[in-house]
Amino acid sequence: MAKYRIAWLPGDGVGVDVMEAAKIVLDRLALDAEYIHGDIGWEFWRSEGDAFPARTIELLKNVDAAMFGAITSKPVKAAEAELVDSLKGTGLTYRSPIVRMRQLFDLYTCLRPCKAYPGNPLNYREGLDLVIFRENTEDLYAGVEYSPVPAEVAETLSKTAKAFAAFKGLAPTDYAVSCKINTRKGSERIVRAAFDFARKFGRKKVTVVHKANVVRATDGLFLEVAREVGKQFPEIVFDEANVDAMTMWVLKNPFNYDVIVAPNLYGDIVSDLCAQMVGGLGFGCSGNIGDKLAVFEPTHGSAPKYAGQYKVNPIATIMAAKMMLDWLGETEKGTRLEQAVAAVVAEGRARTYDMGGTTKTLEMAEAIASKLA
Ligand code: IPM
Ligand code: MG
Repeated sequence: MAKYRIAWLPGDGVGVDVMEAAKIVLDRLALDAEYIHGDIGWEFWRSEGDAFPARTIELLKNVDAAMFGAITSKPVKAAEAELVDSLKGTGLTYRSPIVRMRQLFDLYTCLRPCKAYPGNPLNYREGLDLVIFRENTEDLYAGVEYSPVPAEVAETLSKTAKAFAAFKGLAPTDYAVSCKINTRKGSERIVRAAFDFARKFGRKKVTVVHKANVVRATDGLFLEVAREVGKQFPEIVFDEANVDAMTMWVLKNPFNYDVIVAPNLYGDIVSDLCAQMVGGLGFGCSGNIGDKLAVFEPTHGSAPKYAGQYKVNPIATIMAAKMMLDWLGETEKGTRLEQAVAAVVAEGRARTYDMGGTTKTLEMAEAIASKLA
């Protein structure tokens, strides 16, 4: 029996291409693992009405970790239109599988390292090394939403919230409500994860991103909890910033940042910004980490127009595999893989199209694998 059972979830579009590339390097590292394919993605939405079928959920209950490619998502009406005829009009609604997976398995930490590998022509600045901790299960992603807004909800809001007066009397279909729900527990554990990381890896500073000056209830709670946690780490500089201002400052003075922690939606946005500073889509890797399971993925989407062309940069997925190796405790292999990526980037011979070259997806993987000897 292999040491690790790993769920292998390529999903849609270029997810398939980049996962094939990741497999090349994992095989070259001779990781003692069994890779078990899981069905996920748009074709299962169309044919079964579920992009994340129950059998795949079962699979994830029995693995050590998972690698995930990408999934195509479409707005509610467009999704409904693509269902097979027998499922149309049955009341199915599309929900993003990755968001469901994060909630179902309580993968509360979204870890997004943004490191500039020397010599990458896409680096905004050489030497950048930011690490983002994004809360991954609650906030505006809670999934508690109304459109149309039920009468009971409107009634309760008008009784309990003064500011609701401005919306009172609107027809249920003339507005919509999405609830931002942040808990003390959810805020505490993500901030603690960020500070624990900072302590473990000798990082100097943690910046807490929020908008507590306006979104006082939820972000107020997040910030209050963050300050409490921060006190337990006196050797680490506690920094806090409003999300809007922070996006300007991080471009102006990127070296003022180190570890960044944010509620779900701000983390989603800030992590794209930071990924762009170190190479963009081809370099953004991500870990969705819980206490029992972790799922690793590139942050780019399925890019349907490039599907099957083996054109996109696999480094994001290969770095996601590196994160998986570290999480499994295979840090020697993880470090070797990162060094191999860094060597290929520095050398500059293999360059995918996003980096201005013509190297194909699997050729890039081979170039990296060849450095693993
Ligand atoms: C991400 C993505 C997802 C998110 C989408 C695909 C649902 O943008 O992982 O950052 O919003 O979390
Ligand atoms: Mg995102």
